[in-house]
Amino acid sequence: KKTAVQSGPLHYLYQFLPCSSSPSLPGPPGLFLIGNMMELMHDHLPIHLTSLAQRYGNIYKLKCGNTTMVVLNSTDFIREALVKKWSDFAGRPLSYTGDIVSRGGLSISLGDYTEEWKAHRRLVHGALKRCCQKSLHDVIERQALHLRKVLMGYKGSAVDLSEDFTVAASNVITTLAFGKEYDKCSPELQQLHSCLNEIVALWGSSWISALDSFPLLRNLPNPVFSRLLKEVARRDKIITQHLNKYQSQDRENEDTITGSLLQGLGKLHSTEHEVLLTDTHVHMATVDLLIGGSETTAAWLSWTVAFLLHRPEVQTRVYEELCTVLEGRYPKYSDKHRLPVLCSLINEVLRLRPVAPLAVPHRAIRDSSIAGYFIPKNTVVIPNLFGAHHDPEVWTDPYSFKPERFLEGGGGSTRALVPFGGGARLCLGESIAKMEVFLFTAYLLRDFQFLPPERDAPLPDLRGVASIVLKVKSYTVRARPRPVTHP
Ligand code: HEM
Repeated sequence: KKTAVQSGPLHYLYQFLPCSSSPSLPGPPGLFLIGNMMELMHDHLPIHLTSLAQRYGNIYKLKCGNTTMVVLNSTDFIREALVKKWSDFAGRPLSYTGDIVSRGGLSISLGDYTEEWKAHRRLVHGALKRCCQKSLHDVIERQALHLRKVLMGYKGSAVDLSEDFTVAASNVITTLAFGKEYDKCSPELQQLHSCLNEIVALWGSSWISALDSFPLLRNLPNPVFSRLLKEVARRDKIITQHLNKYQSQDRENEDTITGSLLQGLGKLHSTEHEVLLTDTHVHMATVDLLIGGSETTAAWLSWTVAFLLHRPEVQTRVYEELCTVLEGRYPKYSDKHRLPVLCSLINEVLRLRPVAPLAVPHRAIRDSSIAGYFIPKNTVVIPNLFGAHHDPEVWTDPYSFKPERFLEGGGGSTRALVPFGGGARLCLGESIAKMEVFLFTAYLLRDFQFLPPERDAPLPDLRGVASIVLKVKSYTVRARPRPVTHP
């Protein structure tokens, strides 16, 4: 699948040649004016970009208007750009719609790599670290027990669990952020979710991305764009209300991320730091954490149950491991190394369905190279994590769900996994997400057996619906309590 340049000694040599001597990137031919825009309109973009890699190799280019994009489809190339040459590719594309969604680039996820962004990320990283060290395990355990109670309440009837998963994951992040958790029926939570979900879905749509590549389209009426503007305004109103309420009651509480951020701001102001972070930075960091913290982990849990319905014997193996190792108690994160079968399941779901399948686009902030190809400043780089996790040169039988590949002798290596990206833009919630998926899965599989709604009912569709987050199509499942349920 790799071209001679990508894999042979030439690859090595080209790194040292001047840019004019480097080969030109392969890629599909484009149409007059619109370039390869049609390639980007595909309904399941990660699958489509992965199929293009079979024709053009693990690195290829696409042109869209006056933007050049380079798609990376292997772990090696993704690591070369994001980790080895992180300082060349730490930027984010400057975009008209991204600016609107991020209030002028003031969010962490969409902000460009500047001194201001670095101070912002440092501030949020520090606040997350402090709060997580103090309370993350307890907060997740509490939500896992609550989720268990909700599932017990269904008494083994067939239900769609996706909303319960979203509430559980959101409550972890709202507890950390504001010290507040919500009930599934809470109008406040529903409002927040519908709005954030809508923004993610609209912003991922091609009607919106076309506005970035083709400025002339901005003069035409676009109902999707009008909806996006409305939802962004609604989001800002909700978050402002939250922060105002928080500030009037609890500003001093450094145990929450928001408290810690607000105090951190005060410190930055008083040390006359060159960079001035404001309340808007706290506002946008809250948006980042709420979006990053709810849909991703929840989507991951829904995928896990869906895959387990396809291979019930995996569920049995995890259950048996939990019974043997834990002897009736609930797991702790520190049990991770004693539960290899559970970890193999977690890794295989992250491999097959990385919930942020195309990460977030990066931008070259200076001229550089990847795989020996010259990459000029401002090129947009798309790490196709989905493609890397299905690379047939790395994974045997890449499209099959086989957690056993990660067990001893199975041939799969976690080093080839990149579900959280890497380098300067590594997912900010990686450690929260890892602890969440471990504890939620362990709690659920210890106490429930997941079964299809009826004996011959069709099993969940595993293709998924791809937007910024890769989700499974909704399905129903029975969560039958295990016969011996402990404390
Ligand atoms: C960015 C994956 C959960 C917050 C990202 C990126 C990926 C990712 C691939 C883009 C990295 C890049 O640009 O190269 C995941 C997965 C998750 C998860 C697979 C769960 C299974 C979370 C959680 C939070 C979070 C729980 C917050 C509490 C963020 C933020 C960014 C980000 C703020 C932007 C980082 C930046 O641009 O510097 N995530 N994420 N994520 N994630 Fe996550």
